[in-house]
Amino acid sequence: GIESKIDSIMAQMTIEEKIGQMSQFALDLIGKGGNAYYSDEPFEIDPAMLDTVIGKYKVGSILNTSNNRARTTEVWENSIRLIQERALQETGIPVIYGIDAIHGVTYTAGATFFPQEIGMAATFNREIVERGAQITAYETRASNIPWNFSPTMDVGRDARWSRQWESYGEDTYLNAQMGTATVRGYQGSDRNSVRNSNIAACLKHYLGYGVPVSGKDRTPAVISESELREKFYEPFRAAIVDGGALSIMVNSGIINGVSTHADYRLLTEWIKEDLGFDGVIVTDWADVQNLYTRDNISKDYKGAVKAAINAGIDMVMEPYNLAFCPALKELVEDGEVSTERIDDAVRRVLRLKYRLGLFEKPYWPRAEFPDFGSNEHEAVAKSAAAESITLLKNENTVLPLPSNARILVTGPNANSMRTLNGGWSYSWQGEKTEDFAQQYNTIYEALQNKFGTANVKYEPGVTYKMDGQYFEENTPEIQKAVTAASGVDYIILCVGENSYCETPGNLDELTLSENQTNLALALQKTGKPVILVLNEGRPRLIREIEPGSAAVVQTYLPGNFGGDALSDILSGDINPSGKLPYTYPKYEQGLITYDHKPSQNIAGKMEGAYDYGAQTSVQYPFGFGLSYTTFTYSNMSVDKTDFTSDDIVKVSVDVTNSGEVEGKESVLLFSSDLVASLSPDVRRLRGFEKISLKPGETKTVTFDLKGEDLAYVNELGKWTIEEGEFMLQLGDQTTNINCTKTKVWETPNK
Ligand code: IFM
Repeated sequence: GIESKIDSIMAQMTIEEKIGQMSQFALDLIGKGGNAYYSDEPFEIDPAMLDTVIGKYKVGSILNTSNNRARTTEVWENSIRLIQERALQETGIPVIYGIDAIHGVTYTAGATFFPQEIGMAATFNREIVERGAQITAYETRASNIPWNFSPTMDVGRDARWSRQWESYGEDTYLNAQMGTATVRGYQGSDRNSVRNSNIAACLKHYLGYGVPVSGKDRTPAVISESELREKFYEPFRAAIVDGGALSIMVNSGIINGVSTHADYRLLTEWIKEDLGFDGVIVTDWADVQNLYTRDNISKDYKGAVKAAINAGIDMVMEPYNLAFCPALKELVEDGEVSTERIDDAVRRVLRLKYRLGLFEKPYWPRAEFPDFGSNEHEAVAKSAAAESITLLKNENTVLPLPSNARILVTGPNANSMRTLNGGWSYSWQGEKTEDFAQQYNTIYEALQNKFGTANVKYEPGVTYKMDGQYFEENTPEIQKAVTAASGVDYIILCVGENSYCETPGNLDELTLSENQTNLALALQKTGKPVILVLNEGRPRLIREIEPGSAAVVQTYLPGNFGGDALSDILSGDINPSGKLPYTYPKYEQGLITYDHKPSQNIAGKMEGAYDYGAQTSVQYPFGFGLSYTTFTYSNMSVDKTDFTSDDIVKVSVDVTNSGEVEGKESVLLFSSDLVASLSPDVRRLRGFEKISLKPGETKTVTFDLKGEDLAYVNELGKWTIEEGEFMLQLGDQTTNINCTKTKVWETPNK
């Protein structure tokens, strides 16, 4: 088996070789001319740097790609082959190459691009999420990369956070389900043999990365013990225990005062010991160094390395600081880091390489992957985009538009592939997308194809500065757009954000930009129906312009086929079926999640409660999304009204398409614990199923609800279910069930 092979390799390894396996450097470190990632020169390996990185330091892992323009199959294959040949010659151990292929293998031209995670969540369709991940796995392998830093399992519970779009939204259960489906899609069914067209997943960024107090990326978070386990740990637990995820990347931030990269309890106890996780824990970018230079928890670099490795880090993404290798060696020699800890980390890294089949086949030609970027792959990406798009308002059924509609397409997001894709697309901040995605349709181009060139005019009114900071705009030309609106029947106004990722995406103000707001208000004054199309990574506040909009359509970051999918929806060729995976806020001071405590929003509280005015208005609730048809829920039933944590309650409802056109409906099951010792969340999502119904058709949807899934985590971090009533809700139907036995349990496996 794998373990005995690892034993025999490890018996031969020097300490330098072992430390090499624990380190990961950026490809540009080995590139000629230094920082290849930002350069436009064709990428070429620098033999001297190869000598240093692989020859001297025996580095076991590389990440990132070369610059865009050099990303031809040939250059790429050659570079990886050279690195692997050298690694095999030095140590007999192949390098493991990692990348952020977060919505497709987005560094390789011609690859299939899906909606970003937030859009995949809005589909509420596990099957399409899993199929999308399979395609990404296939195309990533085809690009000679077996390891993907995805999925993001940070629950996106703060709309201000600049990576909310990389999450499956604000709900824990939705993140757990979609994350597990993604891991299955990437890794296939056997985590010990992830080969051919499968790749290893990396769950990130463990833990609580999505809720910095300031809303700004990589700043400290404060999270109660109860929430840490119930809201944030749970998706990771599920994707490890149920999905078999092979690796985890750590949160760059601080939780409750402790830097996560140095948190023994979270890394070693909660993951390795409690879950028996036998995979690899990798740092995020330069985060060991950051313990020293940013968090100030050690007086020198060596102290930072010691803290991280002893906390349970197995691989360090440095990515340029070769001082890591000698620093760790000294720590081992001084007895500050044990050889057992080193051996444990190295064993995990080698296990991952075996599981990925790298010892047998360290690189492979693209020719073995004939379906790369195939029509079938593209069709799946387009349906995912179509299923994600969420109709939020449709006054007087202004949508769908008649086929002879005369349209003005306007706004900064109307004619941009970059904004459709968001960050991590062709380049880190997505800024090179326009160069590489010319063969796909922007919203404007897709509308021209659908409604005819003669019927579709374009005048942006507001544009982003393409060479500026991510949110800078050029001087607006609002009057030009207003003038262009004469003679059209409809205005399709595409607003939102430019592409961004991580800290460059931090904002001081969540409201839509002033220019875009003014453009909307001016266009609304024309009296023509304004269809507001949102193309954004997080919900920018629109309360000023929403009332004057005839329709509102959320596209999120739908990928290369977003324009086509949107035009199919606006024309009625596809009936929208996306639902919001977060609460769309109305006010910056009114950020709230749907599963809040009763006191956070007094509406709907028990009778007799004192109303101290804690109402929070939201623009649109979690799970909201309209269709061109209507769905009627009836006959909700349960197979038992009394239950314990050991039982499964079958919950059913009939759903009827009561409108005129075929449509898809995501049926969402919510539960409410009516009374609990720790003030209970008002509602929690406990199940979802997407169905398709023809007009007049009825389907019965049944959920197997585990009693233990109604438990919450108490203030000491223990799973708890208490006697008493729970309300279950499906559509507008509700039923109460009664728990007959209190139980408190420790095991994080539930
Ligand atoms: O995987 C990413 C992470 O999400 C953010 N920092 C860099 C990593 C590697 O590119």
